[in-house]
Amino acid sequence: EISRLNGTDILQKVCELLDRNVPYYNWTGFYLMDEEGMLVLGPYVGEPTEHVRIAVGKGICGQAAETKLTFVVQDVTQETNYLSCSPHVKSEIVVPIFRNDGSVFGEIDIDSHYKAPFDERDREFLEWIAQQLRVKVVHFQEFNRRIKIAYL
Ligand code: SME
Repeated sequence: EISRLNGTDILQKVCELLDRNVPYYNWTGFYLMDEEGMLVLGPYVGEPTEHVRIAVGKGICGQAAETKLTFVVQDVTQETNYLSCSPHVKSEIVVPIFRNDGSVFGEIDIDSHYKAPFDERDREFLEWIAQQLRVKVVHFQEFNRRIKIAYL
């Protein structure tokens, strides 16, 4: 089924699957890097957020994009460079997704209403998903781009 979906639909499906299966994933979404180097909100499941565009370096999302590292913040009140989306959020994990050239394509962002819910399994699993998407999404983006060039 997943092979027939386009890039955006795949990301939406991944959000839904994670949201449905992990009780402490309470906001699950993607930020995607645009041409100007801003992180733009992509598909997500959860409360709407005012942070639809995030500059590299700003917040946990911006820091993950800047450093190209996974950020696990077990208690957001201890993080000074943090953009709050909802007062319910207590912790957050952000995992970068890379293009084949090593640049940041975007990231997986998960907020939790629980304090310190994330362990190594979350990190490993989400980094694995990011690896899979690196292939799929880049492939589909190129596919969509070529379709547009060919047919529009
Ligand atoms: N808390 C994030 C902003 C995005 S929301 O979690 C959806 C941050 O500090 O970058």
